[in-house]
Amino acid sequence: MKTVTLSTLQAYKQAGETFSCLTAYDASFAHAASQAGIDVLLVGDSLGMVLQGHNSTLPVTIEDIVYHTRCAARGKGHSLLMVDLPFMSNATTERLLEDAGAVMRAGAELVKLEGEAWMADGIRELTRRGVPVCAHLGLTPQTVHQLGGYRVQGRDAAHAERIIHDAKVLVEAGASVVLLECVPASLGKAVTEALDVPVIGIGAGPDTDGQILVMHDVLGITHGRTPRFVKNFMAEADSIQAAFQAYHEAVKTRAFPAQEHCF
Ligand code: KIV
Repeated sequence: MKTVTLSTLQAYKQAGETFSCLTAYDASFAHAASQAGIDVLLVGDSLGMVLQGHNSTLPVTIEDIVYHTRCAARGKGHSLLMVDLPFMSNATTERLLEDAGAVMRAGAELVKLEGEAWMADGIRELTRRGVPVCAHLGLTPQTVHQLGGYRVQGRDAAHAERIIHDAKVLVEAGASVVLLECVPASLGKAVTEALDVPVIGIGAGPDTDGQILVMHDVLGITHGRTPRFVKNFMAEADSIQAAFQAYHEAVKTRAFPAQEHCF
């Protein structure tokens, strides 16, 4: 399989072809997902919930992320490896640069950060130094306490406009990719059409350029509440590899997400 780079994602966008993304936190699952054809792997700070058992991503440290990035990087195969910066990496520019440097040295090829338009300066500093950035907007789990829970974002016109504005500002600052979480499908479509860079969605409708899910949700081993945008691909598969392949194909053919997974 051909190595996936940012140019590949850009080419997918231009061709109107969708791409698949999945979280992976170690070499074995990264290998299985890559072999299944998944385009982008994410070492997400969701590891705090699905691996460590916390009820939010806030306790995850940069050391945790670096450790899992090293593991996933050894299995990533042809897939592009995106890595989350954890809660408070954006506390100062110095810390942002240090943390981004640590994950890039561990094997990241794209760094993802949560934040709104105010993150523009940080993104400018990172991209100036050759660190490609994915800006995570919409439901940003690191601000769950401020948001009052894991709720759909951008339901009203003013908030939707703000998300579109912030996405444009962050792309202008240098973000190469935008990730939109938990927004109405109409807003997922509007952001995707407004930007020249690839937009990855999770609970953002069928029209984003790429789709991402947490691996544990794809395998049907989510504990606690299952979000509406999740589909258990293991239900009709006879192996983990087959479940990853079914997810990849469903994304590529736009069979997933269906109406029932959207807001
Ligand atoms: O941490 C993570 O897994 C994520 C995805 C939910 C997009 O940010």
